[in-house]
Amino acid sequence: MAAEEDGSRDASLPVRKKQPRQQLTKGMEHMRSYVTVDPTSSATSPPVEEDAYGVPATYQPVRNVTQKPTENNPEKRTDPFQFGTRYLEQGDDIFAHNAWDHVEVDPQYSEFIESQTIFQRENQVSDFDKQRFNTSPEKWWDKFYSNNAANFFKDRKWLVQEFPVLGEVTKEDYGGVTVLEAGAGAGNTAFPVLHMNKNPGLRLHACDYSKKAIDVIRAQEAYKSQEGADQVLKADVWDVAGEELPPGLTPGSVDIVLMIFIFSALSPDQWSQAMRNIFALLKPGGAVLFRDYGRGDLAQVRFKKGRYLDENFYVRGDGTRVYFFEEQELKDIWSGKLPATSGDGEQEEVPGFEVVNLAVDRRMLVNRQRKLKMYRCWMQGRFRKPAEADAVE
Ligand SMILES: C[S@@+](CC[C@H](N)C(=O)[O-])C[C@H]1O[C@@H](n2cnc3c(N)ncnc32)[C@H](O)[C@@H]1O
Repeated sequence: MAAEEDGSRDASLPVRKKQPRQQLTKGMEHMRSYVTVDPTSSATSPPVEEDAYGVPATYQPVRNVTQKPTENNPEKRTDPFQFGTRYLEQGDDIFAHNAWDHVEVDPQYSEFIESQTIFQRENQVSDFDKQRFNTSPEKWWDKFYSNNAANFFKDRKWLVQEFPVLGEVTKEDYGGVTVLEAGAGAGNTAFPVLHMNKNPGLRLHACDYSKKAIDVIRAQEAYKSQEGADQVLKADVWDVAGEELPPGLTPGSVDIVLMIFIFSALSPDQWSQAMRNIFALLKPGGAVLFRDYGRGDLAQVRFKKGRYLDENFYVRGDGTRVYFFEEQELKDIWSGKLPATSGDGEQEEVPGFEVVNLAVDRRMLVNRQRKLKMYRCWMQGRFRKPAEADAVE
């Protein structure tokens, strides 16, 4: 009989418990040590505070005690998951919740981001494939929407919380208002807005340059059941970086433009034309509600060989492209300070929006069962066409 089985093991020796191997997708296997709990640390070293969280001592997220006092941190005790208010503080059990807000990565992780970037840059997409992915990128999105038809329509409870104006414009007595969603995809934002709407004066235009995405929207019962002249949601194919404005919309006719994870799908040489179109469509004082990927997000860090198209610009396995933004860079782009270059290398004029606000939304998502930590980073902001700007630019 083995010593462990008859209980005769020397109590002074550390007991090494058998740990189930944590499951990772194939694509994340190379970064196992960065996102999983070290299975050996608690077995071989004396218990230290870090091990109580199941995180190796060398790898601690920054706890923002200075930003928010404990008594104002109620989200730790309530479960409906809310954005932005669950701060990780000294003594918190990381795996007690699914997500923590405003978590900064530690220096070791920053180094890892840096080394990944160098690796990605050195192993970039071939010129032939760059051409393939950058020519007619809408075809890759068409493919995406053909292949994933069943996986859409996540419940976006956060929309109104993050963009309270959407709650306002959908109120019964708000009056006439026009909202355009650029790059609406399958309607993950448009349908929740339609669903909450009580305002007969709301006109919601959901546009995307993928015809398949627009087909998905138009095929929904909630879309088809709208009646004639009172139709609130209208879906159309439109390229935000093209030469024309969307069907049914004239310059200076839009109050709000929603841009949720679409700016990142454009290549940098499309930014200025997209902004010119949006500027032209908005009424003076009209707003852009923006949410997109931030630099260092897990989605960027995990890209492997053959995905790098250009600095911070990648192609996913399904052929769709994605850019990761820095806060100051976005401020410069939207305020018109960043000189834009078109595809043929020409300098282009960029309209100047007022950056009403722009924040970095850093989150550590936790898979409690698999003991995984995932650092996410998003940019969220509101940009406004100056009130004194001409309606037509
Ligand atoms: C990451 S998806 C986001 C979709 C949707 N906004 C959401 O949050 O679910 C990006 C979308 O932008 C669309 N898109 C990319 N470039 C575009 C362009 N130049 N004009 C219009 N739509 C575009 C894609 O077809 C895709 O549907």
